[in-house]
Amino acid sequence: MGDFFRRESMPTLVVVGTQWGDEGKGKVVDVLTEQADFVVRFQGGNNAGHTLVINKKKHILHLIPSGIFRPNTVCVIGNGVVVDPEVLINEIEKLKKEGLDLSPKKLIISEKAQTIMPYHKALDIAREAKAGENKIGTTCRGIGPCYEDKVARKGFRLIDLTYPETFKEKLKKILEEKNFLLSYLNAEPLKFEEIYEKYLAFGEYLKPYLADVSQLLWNAQKAGKNILFEGAQGTFLDIDHGTYPYVTSSNTVAGNACCGSGLGPTEINSVLGIVKAYTTRVGEGPFPTELHDEIGELLRERGGEYGATTGRPRRCGWLDLVMVKTAVRLNGLTYLAITKLDVLSGLKTLKLCVGYKYEGQIIDFFPSELEKLKKVEPIYQELPGWEEDISQIKNFDALPEATKNYIKFIEQYLEVPIALLSFGPERESCFLLKNPFDK
Ligand code: IMP
Repeated sequence: MGDFFRRESMPTLVVVGTQWGDEGKGKVVDVLTEQADFVVRFQGGNNAGHTLVINKKKHILHLIPSGIFRPNTVCVIGNGVVVDPEVLINEIEKLKKEGLDLSPKKLIISEKAQTIMPYHKALDIAREAKAGENKIGTTCRGIGPCYEDKVARKGFRLIDLTYPETFKEKLKKILEEKNFLLSYLNAEPLKFEEIYEKYLAFGEYLKPYLADVSQLLWNAQKAGKNILFEGAQGTFLDIDHGTYPYVTSSNTVAGNACCGSGLGPTEINSVLGIVKAYTTRVGEGPFPTELHDEIGELLRERGGEYGATTGRPRRCGWLDLVMVKTAVRLNGLTYLAITKLDVLSGLKTLKLCVGYKYEGQIIDFFPSELEKLKKVEPIYQELPGWEEDISQIKNFDALPEATKNYIKFIEQYLEVPIALLSFGPERESCFLLKNPFDK
């Protein structure tokens, strides 16, 4: 009977961040793309910054999926992504100059992906400035205003830039409203002609890359190809499940891999959650395990915790397992990857948050309300640290006992198997314990 119901389906893996982004997803995705035929971005935009170090050279990608450095991996930008065409074109041109293949066979972009327009950026900047102390701390890349327009049905899909007449009429109407808003926010109005000509040219440039991504992935799946979905940001920046309103404007959880690409949920095999060995956050919002002392400073300096997109220093703190356990549920995680363990070397004692005290009571979940989250006090499990430099270690047995205990504690608390351990930015400084593509 079992075989009768079973469908033939090839591995499809979703990779997501379990914290507030910057967990090291880009590096893990780059490593795993050795096994992937397709790598797909499904949400966010150039608010993301994925840092990869290949042959000692540092690369930062904002829109193009992290599989671009693999000769046989096709990179796909799904409909759920908001695309700033100028940034994308610059990224394409820069990578071309480095000798990479950026042909429309290598990079495929959904015709349905939304376009970030100049007024989206202007509004993002003007609103943050007006909000003063109450700002979100956005990346000012126009992400929120672009998603707003998508939902309001006032957005431009990339394919719309290739229809000059309809684009012209719609842009005229929309710009009137946006300029009114910009003047209210004390920002300069924008000129129709400049936007129109520029964006028509972007449409021309991108046209050969545009395709029906849902159809493409469906065919790829049927042909037995491996597909890897690359999440951007992290679970607690999710518009619904994150620390609202201090979040980004898309769903960052694994479920959105389906909506953001057009592949149905039954096609997803496994979900890998990336956990940084400590916690960081950029921008505003509550952060229960934040450190304001020299350990926080040490994590920032040693971990290079400065935004890949904006260069802002990241706030740093101990690993919050209550938060990550919530991410296990929100994403349906089947595997974990632990990154940046090397940063912890030399710390005498390590702390892991295993519960919160709230108004005299102990709770073991991440509260939805900011009012509660601001008041929770972390309850810590202390574990001994290790002195050794672990960045070159290639198997679990060779790790110091204290590192093994730290890793095992995380695995046991979260009740999800660890598939990969990473110790530094280079491709080589990590190893697999399990194949995350397996069900
Ligand atoms: P937005 O996505 O630019 O609207 O910014 C909203 C919030 O998400 C801000 O706190 C940003 O710092 C944060 N954010 C957006 N993208 C990333 C990312 O890739 N890593 C970490 N934080 C991010």
